[in-house]
Formats: sequence, C-alpha cells, structure tokens
Amino acid sequence: MCIAQKEWESCIHKCIHDNTDLIELFIAHKIPDLVMTLTGASVVFGLYLYADWRLGLICILVYAAALLAQFSMYGDQGAREDIRGYFTALENINSASMEFARGIPVFKMFSLSALSFSSLKKSVLTYRDFALGFAARGRRGFIIFTILVNFFVFFIFPAVIAINAAHPGDASIALTALLFTALSNAILPSLMNIMNISSAMMTISEGVERIDRIFAAKPLEFPEKTAAPAGFAVAFENVSFSCRRESLSAAGDSAPRQILRDISFRVEEGKSLAIIGRSGSGKSSILSLIARFHDADSGRITIGGADIRNISEKDLMDSVSIAMQQTFMFQGTIRDNIIGGKTGASDAEVLRAAHLAQCDDIIEKYGLDCPVGAGGETLSGGEKQRINIARAILKNAPVLLLDEVSSALDAENERLLNRALRELKKNKTIIMAAHRLDCIRDADQIIMLDRGEIMARGEHQSLMAESPEYRRLWELYETAGRWQLNSDRDSGDNSK
Ligand SMILES: Nc1ncnc2c1ncn2[C@@H]1O[C@H](COP(=O)(O)OP(=O)(O)OP(=O)(O)O)[C@@H](O)[C@H]1O
Ligand SMILES: [Mg+2]
Repeated sequence: MCIAQKEWESCIHKCIHDNTDLIELFIAHKIPDLVMTLTGASVVFGLYLYADWRLGLICILVYAAALLAQFSMYGDQGAREDIRGYFTALENINSASMEFARGIPVFKMFSLSALSFSSLKKSVLTYRDFALGFAARGRRGFIIFTILVNFFVFFIFPAVIAINAAHPGDASIALTALLFTALSNAILPSLMNIMNISSAMMTISEGVERIDRIFAAKPLEFPEKTAAPAGFAVAFENVSFSCRRESLSAAGDSAPRQILRDISFRVEEGKSLAIIGRSGSGKSSILSLIARFHDADSGRITIGGADIRNISEKDLMDSVSIAMQQTFMFQGTIRDNIIGGKTGASDAEVLRAAHLAQCDDIIEKYGLDCPVGAGGETLSGGEKQRINIARAILKNAPVLLLDEVSSALDAENERLLNRALRELKKNKTIIMAAHRLDCIRDADQIIMLDRGEIMARGEHQSLMAESPEYRRLWELYETAGRWQLNSDRDSGDNSK
C-alpha cells in the first residue's frame, strides 16, 4: 500500500526547517537562559529569606501562585491540543500559500485575488480564529500572573504592618520592605523568562513529535543479498495495490483506495509493453510498482523470475531506469541533468543519450554546460522532458520504464523519439505508459486499463480486430488528428 502524506511539502518544510530551528534555538539559548534565570531567582529568594524569613516566605508564595496561574494555561491536555492546532494551522497556511504562489499565472488569468483562493483564505481565517481563541484562553492566567507579580507589595503590606505593630519604633522592617520592592525588579525578568521557556518547551515538544512521525515512516525493506535475476523479463502476477492519505498532524487520515486490481501480464526480455487507458486508470502506478517506489498489497512482481522484494536495492536500481511523467531537474547544468545517477559518464556517452532522446537541438542551442536553474526554469516543458528521457537512456539499465514521455513533444520530435525507442527495444525490456497512441502501435503487447483493471490486451492488430473499446480509442485519436489537420487547412484558406 502507498501512504500519501497530506500537505507533504509544507509538513516537511515546517518540520525540517522551522522545527529544527526552534530546537536549535532552545538548546543554544534557552537552556543557558534557564540556568541563569534559576540561579538569579534562587539568589534573590535567598536574599529575601535572609533579610526577613516571614516577608521572604510571603513573596515566594505570591510568586509561586503567579507561576501556577500561568502554568495552568500550558499544563493540561487542552493546551497540548492548542499547540497541535497551532502547528497544523501554520502548516495549512504554508501549504496554501505555496499553492497560491505556484498558481499565480492561473489566478491572474481568471482575475482572482489571494482572498478568492478559498484554501488560502480558509487557512488564514482558521489561523486567525485559532490565534484569537488561544489568546482568549490564556488571558485569565496571564492577568492573574501580572497582578500578582506587579502588586506583590500589597501582599507584604499586612505583614509589615503586623510586624511593626508588634515592634513599635523599629524601622528596620520598613527598610526590609523597601529592599524587597527594589529586588522585585530583579526577579520580574526571571519570572517572565521561566514563563517563556516553559511555553517554548511545549512548542518544541510538539515539533519533536512531528519530526518523530516523519522518521517513524518505515522505508521499504530491501534484502542485503539476493540471487541475481535470471534475465530481465518483467511479470505481474495478480497484483493489487491501494493508497491511503495520511496527515502528519494525526488528523484527517483516509480509508485506503484501490488503485490496481488483480493485474497480471508478462513482458519477455527485449520485448515491449505499452499501457494505455484513461487518466487515473493506474498506468503510472504500474511503473512505480516495478521501480518499487511502493509495494503492492497482494500478488507478485518479478524481474527475471525473482520477486522484486527479494532483489537488493542496488541490483533493482541497476536493472531499472525510469523517465517519469513529472519531469525532475537538478539545479545544475544540462550535462549534470543528463548524467543524473551515472557519475563518471564520458561526454561521448552523454551526447549519444542526448541524441537518442532527440536533444540535439537543445545541446546545439545551449551547450552541455548551460545551467538549467531551479527545477529547470530556463527550459521549456518539452526540453525538460527530452533531458529526462536522455537521463533514463544514459543509465542504460536493461528494463526501461517510460511514463508519458512524448506528451510534451511536437510531432516531429515524437516521430524521431519513436524511431530511437525502436532502436533501444532491440536490447531492452521496455514498458511505457502513453496517451499518444502513435508510439504504442509498434509495441509487442498492449494492455488497456480501466479503473485499475485490464480490460483488453494483445497486439495492435488483434486489439483492433477484437476490442471495440480499443477501436473506439483509435477512432477518437485519429479524429483528433484529422481535426488538427483540417484546422491547419482552414487557417491556410483564411489567410489566402
Ligand atoms: N500518491 C498518491 N496518493 C493518492 N492517490 C494516488 C497517488 N498516486 C496515484 N493515486 C491515484 O491512483 C489512481 C491512478 O493514478 P495513476 O497516476 O497511476 O494514473 P494514470 O493512469 O497514470 O493517470 P494519467 O494518465 O493522468 O497519468 C488515480 O486515481 C490517482 O488519484
Ligand atoms: Mg500517469
């Protein structure tokens, strides 16, 4: 099963960045602060008791009552819930504002403002309500604390009057009371500090819990040693797979949702399989299971007859190469991005992979040493896609997984890429997911998915003859192609 973490990016950002900052600050500054504060407070309390134990005791009791009033705000389960809510509200704002920043072009196009983006608005309002509620709940404790520490002198007055009455003419008690009042200026910052440190402790303990939840996520287990796969045929045997969403805030986990049901197929070594089906039917999920990004719930996936769960991580990664649907670019040069994991590849190897992935024009335009910026921001979608394909080709693994690799290519590049894939197919097992049907026609085997199940399988010709759904898909595809040609002709006519 795959467990998808809700608001994953913002949670990771908050946990790794903000929480480690908080913990570092606490260890580096608050602990020395606490030692100083406690030492200072002990000295002042010692002086109080030394100067007059009766007045000293009253002062200590008043300060203790002030701190108790304040701690009552933090100490109970409700306060823990408040801190948890505070973290969740912050994570939601993080996630919504990141989403908003990324979607600015879309918002501009529809003349939408930040406030009309409902998830951002909702997260800001939730944070506001939470902050107001939190402040309101803490108000009583803080008022009592402030009154007690600022007006403690009123609590020692009755004792001063009583002592004075018992020893008329003795001015020393009045001087002692003055000394207490002066010393209260020294103790006040210490008390405020104790308060701040205890609230910081609550905050970091929630932060540590959240970091723990990330570390508690179990990585897939790979065996240390395995028998090497005998060849590179890939097979699915009755594979089912589901996914459930999980939130780091321990709230909002969802029930598992079935993504693939009872999938079986076999692709012989050096042959190709194309997976087609409507969006969301599970094509990418099949590829990610072969690369073992997740484990299936039931059934077996084998490479060369060996269950991939029994293949060591290194052997599996050496066997499989993947060009994913969502392109990923490192912040480096075009060469760095093509080399990817294959460190030490020569320029000749890089250029060959680039050539097969139809990157010649990119290399000509920019050169191998051109930086691509964060996330490849200086390149177009199609250029990024071709560089991702070159990376997968350069890895030269015997099993090549291609996920919608031609979706951002123009017709000419797609034709050339298909030709290159035909070359690669000679010595690789290729499994590709595709919407563009041109590139699947030549596949040795095609499976058609519908809502996670195989609804038809075979070669192109046999599917055309036997599967009405497959025929219909091709009709639609060809109609769309003709529509494009007609509209080209129309525009040509209009221009005359
Ligand atoms: N990480 C995930 N968390 C939750 N659900 C997921 C996750 N990945 C995929 N899914 C769900 O699994 C189903 C299949 O997704 P998949 O990406 O395999 O479809 P696809 O056929 O590749 O679609 P497309 O053609 O749009 O790329 C979808 O309904 C999707 O919502
Ligand atoms: Mg997909």
